[in-house]
Amino acid sequence: MNLFDVYPLFDVNIVRGKGCHVWDDKGQEYLDLYGGHAVISIGHAHPHYVDMISKQVATLGFYSNSVRNGLQVQLAERLGKACGYEDYSLFLVNSGAEANENALKLASFHTGRKKVVAFRKAFHGRTSAAVRVTDNPKIVAPVNEGIDVTFLPLNDLEAAREALSAKDVCAVIIEGIMGVGGIHIPTPEFLQGLRNLCSETGTVLILDEIQCGYGRSGKFFAHQHAGIRPDLITVAKGIGNGFPMSGLLISPMFKPVYGMLGTTFGGNHLACTAALAVLDVMEQEHLIDNAAKVGNYLMEACREIPQIKEVRGLGLMIGLEFEQPIKELRQQLLYQEHIFTGVSGTNVIRLLPPLCLTMNEASQFVSTLKKILQA
Ligand SMILES: Cc1ncc(COP(=O)(O)O)c(C=O)c1O
Repeated sequence: MNLFDVYPLFDVNIVRGKGCHVWDDKGQEYLDLYGGHAVISIGHAHPHYVDMISKQVATLGFYSNSVRNGLQVQLAERLGKACGYEDYSLFLVNSGAEANENALKLASFHTGRKKVVAFRKAFHGRTSAAVRVTDNPKIVAPVNEGIDVTFLPLNDLEAAREALSAKDVCAVIIEGIMGVGGIHIPTPEFLQGLRNLCSETGTVLILDEIQCGYGRSGKFFAHQHAGIRPDLITVAKGIGNGFPMSGLLISPMFKPVYGMLGTTFGGNHLACTAALAVLDVMEQEHLIDNAAKVGNYLMEACREIPQIKEVRGLGLMIGLEFEQPIKELRQQLLYQEHIFTGVSGTNVIRLLPPLCLTMNEASQFVSTLKKILQA
């Protein structure tokens, strides 16, 4: 059997990782400023994470959601404290798209409404509702077209006011920092205005923190830079440091009903253990502060590079926009300099390193980038 060929691949086979570094099958070492697409939060193969998961899998890997799972309760308590949402509830699923799918369902159950407002260039996943609120017609199949969605320009509060005025929208879904769309940050005033509009019109505000959350922005959640509290928050990627898992943080205004949501694998014992290990390491190693500190340094240093048109970001979620396409530059970084980076569109390099990136590793990237651009 062949693999279904949907990914344009780099010709590199990564077989091992440690901290912010990975190695290929030929023993070549790479600096990882991509974090496997913002997934690696505490670093590759962290000893505490390896130890906790190894012990858990040797004890109990999985049992179903039909019995009590003390690890889920522990995770909810720890996560609530860590992110400042102790009064919210947690529902655990398996992927980012699934978290958004459930958030949209919950908003629709709650309001009895069907319409959704999302933003231009947004990415929320590839399942039916999540892909429909993603602004990319190429990945929306006819079967996904059912939901009535309006895409608005980011940071246009008047457009949002108009779209919500009829009080027939169930949810507004917005990324705390737009990732796939090119690292665009909603302004604090816009998020605050949107929060008020949603409250006034009975619309559920969903913050997609799948890429920008879990410490990446230098606060636990990116929307916390604006001081707002959404009704639903979705998390994935960094929550398990590579163990597939995701979740919804649900405000007390939603009342659970048996059977309204459900999943086989979500919140299983191994996943919860991975997530608990991540919270341990984030706290012990002060990774959120590190993301803020190293991220600020990286952005300031990149702003000094004249070939870069614009540097956008918060913490360790950074976009470097160039005048020209960056395909060749990324290939040079990878194949000559052995540095992994991400991309948005054609002209933006996206940096999403593990949150344990050191100043030395960041400055290694900056000097390498300068060297390539001056050559
Ligand atoms: C903001 C955002 N939402 C949702 C998703 C979908 O997550 P997953 O691929 O785990 O379904 C992604 C993935 O890149 C994302 O960046």
